[in-house]
Amino acid sequence: MPEQQATESGRPAAAGKTIDRDRLADLIQRERAAYAERHPRSRQAFAAAGANLLGGVPMTWMRMWPGGFPLYLASASGARLTDIDGNGFTDFCLGDTGAMAGHSPAAVQAAVARQYGELGGATTMLPTLDAAWVAGELARRFGPTHWSFTLTATDANRWAIRLARQLAGRPKILVFSYCYHGSVDETFIVAGPDGPQSRAGNVGAPVDPRQTTRVVEFNDLASLERELAAGDVAVVLMEPALTNVGIVLPEPGYLDAVRELTRRSGTLLINDETHTFSAGPGGCTRAWNLDPDIVTIGKSIAGGIPAGAFGLSAGLADRILRDETADIIDTGGVGGTLAGNALSVAAMRATLEQVLTDAAFARMVALADRYTAGVRGVIDNRALPWSIVQLGARAEYRFCPLPPRTGGESEAAADPELDEYLHLYTVNRGVLLTPFHNMALMSPATTEADVDAHTDVFAQAASELLR
Ligand SMILES: Cc1ncc(COP(=O)(O)O)c(C=O)c1O
Repeated sequence: MPEQQATESGRPAAAGKTIDRDRLADLIQRERAAYAERHPRSRQAFAAAGANLLGGVPMTWMRMWPGGFPLYLASASGARLTDIDGNGFTDFCLGDTGAMAGHSPAAVQAAVARQYGELGGATTMLPTLDAAWVAGELARRFGPTHWSFTLTATDANRWAIRLARQLAGRPKILVFSYCYHGSVDETFIVAGPDGPQSRAGNVGAPVDPRQTTRVVEFNDLASLERELAAGDVAVVLMEPALTNVGIVLPEPGYLDAVRELTRRSGTLLINDETHTFSAGPGGCTRAWNLDPDIVTIGKSIAGGIPAGAFGLSAGLADRILRDETADIIDTGGVGGTLAGNALSVAAMRATLEQVLTDAAFARMVALADRYTAGVRGVIDNRALPWSIVQLGARAEYRFCPLPPRTGGESEAAADPELDEYLHLYTVNRGVLLTPFHNMALMSPATTEADVDAHTDVFAQAASELLR
């Protein structure tokens, strides 16, 4: 029942105003200059860091921020952060979901301080009592009964894929065009007019992904049925709604049909809830009553401390534990020394028990409703050919009049110049959006005033563009 959780806005293309590209270029220049002016210390820090940091940043995707250099963080709390130039920001990026619980919530601070300081022992290769509590809570929320931990969502997907291939005894996986599931080798493939191809820029691919993976467009059942008919797909890895190429929602009945087709063809199904967790306390899986074989998740579940998890149905768990050809204990390719460490698990428990609670989600979703209504009002009042899609506590606008149906359609609506303009405009006025896309996420610490501040700045940006 995606319709209950998600709302869309759109208008026929003909009704939209045309963006004056010369004016947009002038505005980008003006905002770039203002950005440089407002952030001299960050600019200097970035220039100096190039000597020893690859690309001048601790992780190369931090170069994605607009303005030529990233802001340097001084401090963060709740839904707010401050840069080293002393500028304050309302944070709707929230670490691209890693900080969905808000920055350093008190309960997680206390749990981390207790485990690392008072009790001691972050990494010991021994279980702590918190782990079974967390597994029980993830089972209650998402359905699969048997859970294991990782440090990232990428690893949760990698290991879940390996287990699924082992269990199904088939070589391939299937993903959706323009999905993103972390840096998982098998997933960098897109559906093109001439058939599947490696995604542009795929760095040092171990093999051509066409050898490992089949790919179809989201919301296209006929293609899915055709690809699964080959009988060589162990597992379909999917987000119940795409979230990394704008938000692409499933059409009514689509996810039920995916489940039916996977079951009929003996194919397992993984729901990657890393981002779609925004739909509610049990992600889309619970909100839409889905029944995957495996759920993977990461990023937000430990309040920003590295942690991920994957859960298997009881039947799959039993089979993999009894499979004598599967080394899941030592060097079989599933596992990591720090995975499930005491610190991550303590942080997960605090986050799930005290921060990202059912009550918190109700507030966060209401804030996202307000955010979506505000942005939609601006779009509609100015007849902009844009749309906004909401998925629980997250919303994202896209530069096309109707919400896209597929990853390919959504990718085609990308507009890097408009992205740059809006990101610079908002950041120069104290509002931070996610750099990879126009995503805004609500945390338990976000307020209605934060949302309204964004709506005002977005309205000003749109008016200046059309003047
Ligand atoms: C749906 C989804 N799964 C997995 C990942 C990987 O997360 P991480 O980079 O924390 O491993 C991402 C990252 O954006 C994601 O969006």
